[in-house]
Amino acid sequence: MPKATNQYYEDEKAKWDSLVDAHYAQHPEKLLLRPEQDFYSYVRTDKVASAYPGTKDFFGDIRGKRLLEYGCGSGMTASLLAKAGADVTAFDISEKSVATTQLRAQLNNLPNLHAQVGVGEELPFPDASFDLAFGRAVLHHLDVDLAGPELLRVLKPGGKALFIEPLGMNPVLTYVRNHVPYPDKNPVGDDRPLTYAEINKWGRGYSDFHYHEVHFFGMIVRAFPYRWHVRLPVLHKVDRVVLRYAPPLRRFCRYVLIMLEK
Ligand SMILES: C[S@@+](CC[C@H](N)C(=O)[O-])C[C@H]1O[C@@H](n2cnc3c(N)ncnc32)[C@H](O)[C@@H]1O
Repeated sequence: MPKATNQYYEDEKAKWDSLVDAHYAQHPEKLLLRPEQDFYSYVRTDKVASAYPGTKDFFGDIRGKRLLEYGCGSGMTASLLAKAGADVTAFDISEKSVATTQLRAQLNNLPNLHAQVGVGEELPFPDASFDLAFGRAVLHHLDVDLAGPELLRVLKPGGKALFIEPLGMNPVLTYVRNHVPYPDKNPVGDDRPLTYAEINKWGRGYSDFHYHEVHFFGMIVRAFPYRWHVRLPVLHKVDRVVLRYAPPLRRFCRYVLIMLEK
């Protein structure tokens, strides 16, 4: 189904409303951050963000920066960004996700986190409103021809954007995604992991644009329970060497980190 149609939006809203409800409605205690958690600890330790060493320094000091978070879901990364001192505006198409993000802000005492309903294809913000933009697993839900120019419009000159996305160039992964069950898998919707053609469209109009594929061998832990993920740093190191010396393998990675500077 083409993205940015009413039906696509309705399906996305229904899916994410019900998922966020299932995870958090009965368990608001899951929304509390641990004392050591913030955006910096996240980029240093998250299995995808930390797979590329340059991620942790890309934004620099985010304190006091106006930051837009795309497709915030239940507000986990929005609250980490706010806890690290950014002035965060988060949006999502799903009303229940936005309400959960607002509750997370309240429970974690983060008055600098504001969440609202919105779609990436039509942002309700003036031109040059944000220093930074961040999104995790959201660009591949958007129509790049409409949402790409919107991101460029709302970023300030010199503004930066960082996105962590699934990469859709590996036919085996596409098969697994569509047909094979694995732990913690979300229901498959009409979204599609990003192709290189789409990634290049997201990069149009920026003074600097680069991306880094991650999780070649690293992806195998996804098939195992969470406790196995401690093995990841070793796999990241192996991946870095393999992908450096064999660039044709990069397209088969599971994730891509996209970095834009206006
Ligand atoms: C895979 S979830 C990621 C949520 C969150 N970023 C995270 O990492 O947990 C994708 C999110 O994008 C939202 N979404 C889907 N299409 C959207 C659109 N067109 N505009 C804004 N948000 C959208 C969904 O409601 C959902 O919360």
